[in-house]
Amino acid sequence: MTVGASDGSNDVANFCNGTGTVRPAGKPRGLWGGDPRNGYWRGVATSTLPDVATERLTDLMIAALDPTPGGRVLDIGCGVGKSATHLLTTSAMHVVGITISETRLDQARTRAAEAGVADRATVQHADAMRMPFSGDSFDAA
Ligand SMILES: C[S@@+](CC[C@H](N)C(=O)[O-])C[C@H]1O[C@@H](n2cnc3c(N)ncnc32)[C@H](O)[C@@H]1O
Repeated sequence: MTVGASDGSNDVANFCNGTGTVRPAGKPRGLWGGDPRNGYWRGVATSTLPDVATERLTDLMIAALDPTPGGRVLDIGCGVGKSATHLLTTSAMHVVGITISETRLDQARTRAAEAGVADRATVQHADAMRMPFSGDSFDAA
């Protein structure tokens, strides 16, 4: 993929790859388990750790899916693949994860392989702003 210097996607990719000039100070990356993720703190103490809150949000999103066996889910911005692997281990769905960060690809693939779900996981480099799939490729995203 080629992007111009003023393209925001390039900045995001550099940030996630760890090659950009703006980087988390170390703690956030560790706290969030390798990639900053969104969490869900409603109903729990604000002191709840991010890894717990992010799993809660992942569970909420999975609960909103129709977990039809064989169904195809697109994980946009799959990062290190935590949410995708969680979905794969709790359902019989197939997941295609895309991330703009090249350094995340292997981490996501390794995570799926270690969880024994690599046969239903595809991880590829793609920019969500230039989606390489047709509109009817997935059952959910
Ligand atoms: C907050 S992390 C997501 C973590 C992941 N969903 C998980 O549960 O582990 C956001 C991810 O989205 C990716 N991303 C950001 N902009 C993107 C874009 N335009 N296209 C594809 N991926 C993108 C980043 O590289 C980063 O890995």
